[in-house]
Amino acid sequence: MCGIVGYIGAKSALEVVLAGLKHMEYRGYDSAGISLVTENELFTRKKAGKLGNLQELLTEPGIPSSNLGIGHTRWATHGAPNDLNAHPHLDESGKIAIIHNGIIENFSQLRKDLTASGIKFNSETDTEVVAHLLSNSLTAGSNSLADAMREVCQKLHGAFTLVAVHADSPDVIVGARRNSPLVVGLGVGENFLASDVSAFIAHTKNALELGQDQVVELRKDSVIVTTFNGEVVQAKPFTVTWDAAAAEKGGFDLFMLKEISEQPKAVADTLRGRLNIDHILKLDELKISEQELIEIDNILIIACGTALHAGLIAKYAFEEWTRIPTSVEFASEFRYRNPVVTTRTLCIAISQSGETMDTLMAVRHAKEQGARVLSICNTQGATIPRESDAVLYTHAGPEIAVASTKAFLTQIVATYLVGLYLAQLKKTISTVKIQELLILLASLPAEVDLVLDTIEEVRGLARKFANNKSVLFLGRGVGYGVALEGALKLKELAYMHAEGFPAGELKHGPIALIEEGLLVVVVVPSPTQQPVLHEKIISNIQEVRARGALILAIAVEDDQIVDEFASHIVRVPHLNPFLQPIVSTVPLQVFACEMATARGHDVDQPRNLAKSVTVE
Ligand code: G6P
Repeated sequence: MCGIVGYIGAKSALEVVLAGLKHMEYRGYDSAGISLVTENELFTRKKAGKLGNLQELLTEPGIPSSNLGIGHTRWATHGAPNDLNAHPHLDESGKIAIIHNGIIENFSQLRKDLTASGIKFNSETDTEVVAHLLSNSLTAGSNSLADAMREVCQKLHGAFTLVAVHADSPDVIVGARRNSPLVVGLGVGENFLASDVSAFIAHTKNALELGQDQVVELRKDSVIVTTFNGEVVQAKPFTVTWDAAAAEKGGFDLFMLKEISEQPKAVADTLRGRLNIDHILKLDELKISEQELIEIDNILIIACGTALHAGLIAKYAFEEWTRIPTSVEFASEFRYRNPVVTTRTLCIAISQSGETMDTLMAVRHAKEQGARVLSICNTQGATIPRESDAVLYTHAGPEIAVASTKAFLTQIVATYLVGLYLAQLKKTISTVKIQELLILLASLPAEVDLVLDTIEEVRGLARKFANNKSVLFLGRGVGYGVALEGALKLKELAYMHAEGFPAGELKHGPIALIEEGLLVVVVVPSPTQQPVLHEKIISNIQEVRARGALILAIAVEDDQIVDEFASHIVRVPHLNPFLQPIVSTVPLQVFACEMATARGHDVDQPRNLAKSVTVE
């Protein structure tokens, strides 16, 4: 939700900030803007629409050269996505510029008070109040922009990352964060601020994590971090483990296609270092004691969107392998109820970004009730892993396309590692069985590689159905989570009505949706490994075919039974039932991607969405 970049150093701030914003666009693309500070002057330009519109505006002559700048890409919350509501926002003197990610929940009262004191607002945003409050604080005697920021932040409720510059302080950028991401990039004679490291990875891999309720003063040769009360704190340094090329398209037309094709490597990276040569599972990085894990008597998975679907799939495996009752909840629902959670609850929070506000709030809610929290996350140093008792990183590398692909596959693999680890500790399945499953997990990268061979065939099918109004997805068991994920991808990217159902539920309502020519995608279980489920799903296929639906089956390579019931079949490798989702999802990702392309949509940046949703 909104991307933030700040630069101070010797290079052209315009160039560094615009290049950084290009990598932040996945966080929002309703508008973009920059402010540059020169000797006591502020130069600000902003424009509705994608970054390209701002770049076009910035081809004007006479743009001042500057070594200090801030930039923003917006995902609109308060106020329409137009030029006026685009960030940066200025105070009345035009000397202070502010950019913001998050929501200032008490902005309405603050705005009323400021308006009553005679201040005129130029936008409908919650952000603009901060520009005026900073200005008031400086007028009232704050010694510096950083002091003013510390004072103002204490008046704000909600979640925010704020970054401000002042025309009269051309040597400093001031940032602040509460419940919204902000990291510092440490260069030599230059420093960076950004919502995530991809904005500055081309310049430096050295970074600093900022904690909650902290203010950072960034100069070209120094970084000072304090609490909102002004106490100096030591921020935690970290080194980014991937390089700039990982955040580029690398020859692909779309980030999504690149990320789909990276899945074999991403899965291998999730497994790396966690299985030893004898296929014994080692999760040394889990900082919850073995005894505590042994005592766990229920598992609660919380997540949103695609990550929730990974959790739904994991539930089947957890209960089978560990015999621990497992529930899966939308983070946003869990957060606002009175759940039964005890000190023997293991809460597993799944989040690619590690910043999703609904999930973060749910994590805090679970911790308050005494649960131990283990997060499965892809982004190093993000807030959710930092607030968890333990973290298992998926190491999938940066995921830029808004629609999640490699993160999903690696989340399933990571949950399976946790499930097998618990089974190993609790001795709920034999060592031999665990080793067998670990060997199968180790073979997954090669299996995912094989399924990538179906890409062209699936693209052809997607183009064929691109004018459809609606697609239904059916699955059973772990295939239900795959069906939900296939439908979500299609909604997100092709803006098409798509629903995923457990195939058995069809007759309890959704079957009324079936009409002549409707495409129904069915995730078919293995006929040999899950014969009962297979039989049942074949009956479900017949029920919808009898009512005129066309069937696209995602079926294992040696399933010949399905041939006579499906109009189209995409074959996937035949794996252990729990591993089947890892390969069955891939054609559905490609299907949605190609469907969106055929319908003329922007696949990497679908309308109304943002990759990292840092508001509730
Ligand atoms: C947003 C994205 C989804 C993603 C969800 C959870 O809604 O558009 O693609 O699945 O957030 O994100 P997380 O980073 O927590 O996995």
